[in-house]
Amino acid sequence: EQIEKGGYEHFMLKEIHEQPKAITDTFRGRMLAEENIIKMSSIEDNLDKFLNADRVIIVACGTSWHAGLVAEYLIEDMARIPVEVEYASEFRYRNPIITEKDVVIAISQSGETADTLAAVKLAKSKGAFVYGVCNVVGSSIARETHSGAYTHAGPEIGVASTKAFTTQITVFTLLALKLGKANKSLSDVAFENYIKKMQLIPKQIEKLLEIDEHVKSIAAVYKDATNCLYLGRGFNFPVALEGALKLKEISYIHAEGYPAAEMKHGPIALIDENMPIFVIATNKGHYEKVVSNIQEIKSRAGKIIAVVTEGDIQVKEIADHVIEIPDTEEALTPLLTTIPFQLLSYHIAVLLDRNVDQPRNLAKSVTVE
Ligand code: G6P
Repeated sequence: EQIEKGGYEHFMLKEIHEQPKAITDTFRGRMLAEENIIKMSSIEDNLDKFLNADRVIIVACGTSWHAGLVAEYLIEDMARIPVEVEYASEFRYRNPIITEKDVVIAISQSGETADTLAAVKLAKSKGAFVYGVCNVVGSSIARETHSGAYTHAGPEIGVASTKAFTTQITVFTLLALKLGKANKSLSDVAFENYIKKMQLIPKQIEKLLEIDEHVKSIAAVYKDATNCLYLGRGFNFPVALEGALKLKEISYIHAEGYPAAEMKHGPIALIDENMPIFVIATNKGHYEKVVSNIQEIKSRAGKIIAVVTEGDIQVKEIADHVIEIPDTEEALTPLLTTIPFQLLSYHIAVLLDRNVDQPRNLAKSVTVE
């Protein structure tokens, strides 16, 4: 097992560090940057289904569901196709309206999650075109779907999903760009700019991983917190949900993710000097609005840990700690903002002496209801 961990103390840490390579592997053969082309035969072969779809319905569970939420923002923004994201467990029992003009996309790292598999079978029985985004090759969901794309993250052993999540987002970014280009929702200039920025992401993550010690020192300050709040907006709202889930899963600290603007409708009541609040405030994503949320937290004595774009000045003055991410397009920031939250959860769990790779009560893959 020590050999399999490749010198890292835990699989989770290894898998966090594998993300630049995993994303590069997900790009391979698909993102032809020099020619400004995205090649995905599973999309090309079924282009009419995607472009004529009334809507895309994404079904998934857990972290994969969070990737689905990012996908919703990406597909609607880049390809202007309506998207709904559903918990597979709710969708399958809700007597959902599914027609032959719907495209249903199932996301699953393992490809074996019982609820997601059942949702796939249901959608197929109603005549929808069903597409899978799985990591495990030849898995049940990969086999049951009409077509799909693998994430190529490699085996993920840690129960808390890390590289599977970022490679799922990578697949959906490519898919959204490809559809946006095909239906001309994206201009050639915008498309080419995205390709250029996407290509930088693996190197940017590599650089971002150097913040490990800094994140570790923040983890040491907040490890004894009993409640945490994660806030983000737009593309980074799902990242806030995923940040909170990661902390809950492996440290057993209660955490909630919220869209930053919804804070005033509830969570603000919880804020006091004992409450750490992790806020994503990237420079292009509703920045001024998030800054005003941060000010509201400050005036209630909450502790602010902000994830900002490098070179930020404004948030730095108000926040208790800042973590900088490299600059990119807002739509691509989830691939970067996720990383500090993974590291943070990891370090808090280690400091609390938790079983990082196999947290209590959780399974890597939930194959029964
Ligand atoms: C379990 C795992 C999570 C995962 C979820 C969905 O809860 O612990 O990490 O996100 O199942 O799994 P899937 O394999 O379908 O992505």
